[in-house]
Amino acid sequence: MISPIELDGGIELRAIARGDGAALAAAYERNRAHLAPWEPERTPEFFSATVQEREVGASLRRLAEGTAIPLVLAEPAGRIVGRVNLSEVVRGVFLNAHLGYWIDAELQGRGLATAAVGGALHFARRAGLHRVQAGTLVHNSASQTVLERNGFTRIGLAPRYLRIAGDWRDHVLFQRLLED
Ligand SMILES: CC(C)(COP(=O)(O)OP(=O)(O)OC[C@H]1O[C@@H](n2cnc3c(N)ncnc32)[C@H](O)[C@@H]1OP(=O)(O)O)[C@@H](O)C(=O)NCCC(=O)NCCS
Repeated sequence: MISPIELDGGIELRAIARGDGAALAAAYERNRAHLAPWEPERTPEFFSATVQEREVGASLRRLAEGTAIPLVLAEPAGRIVGRVNLSEVVRGVFLNAHLGYWIDAELQGRGLATAAVGGALHFARRAGLHRVQAGTLVHNSASQTVLERNGFTRIGLAPRYLRIAGDWRDHVLFQRLLED
């Protein structure tokens, strides 16, 4: 059970929900240029409400089976202005998840990502996880600041780690041990 967390400006950090597809499509369209350097290349269909609603369904299935904790930042009027996703949850001797996030271009620099990542760590702890891993592009200083403020430590450089903006890119890897 994911109980929503209130962030600054009345923005709520909550689990993704059925019906979010249209607001997600609008958010990705609004932030197309902002996110392009940091994300995989997107197909034109990605920006449609239908595809986003299908993705919501897939995210909810992963939430139900315990392999992901997909969160959105939602304004009171319904606009989605960011996402935080804990994915690839592995239990057993690993108890690990991977973390990804973005914040609407208009709302950057107000501490929202720092607070939202803090909220995601709370949900990860509640899920009984031991560790969260995140990777940033080498020059993504803002994202590195967000992680360091949330107690993540650098664990190394992974060459050609993810295919971002059309090419395999080196990433700085970070981890947060949740008992610390
Ligand atoms: C990275 C991102 C999530 C940060 O969101 P945010 O809400 O602006 O983050 P916060 O306000 O909590 O903190 C960011 C900090 O980095 C600082 N910062 C911003 N740009 C910076 C830059 N180019 N170099 C160094 N620091 C920078 C901010 O000033 C802020 O620090 P401050 O509070 O001391 O001023 C947001 O910029 C984003 O969505 N970027 C595109 C997608 C992305 O990179 N996602 C992460 C992938 S790993």
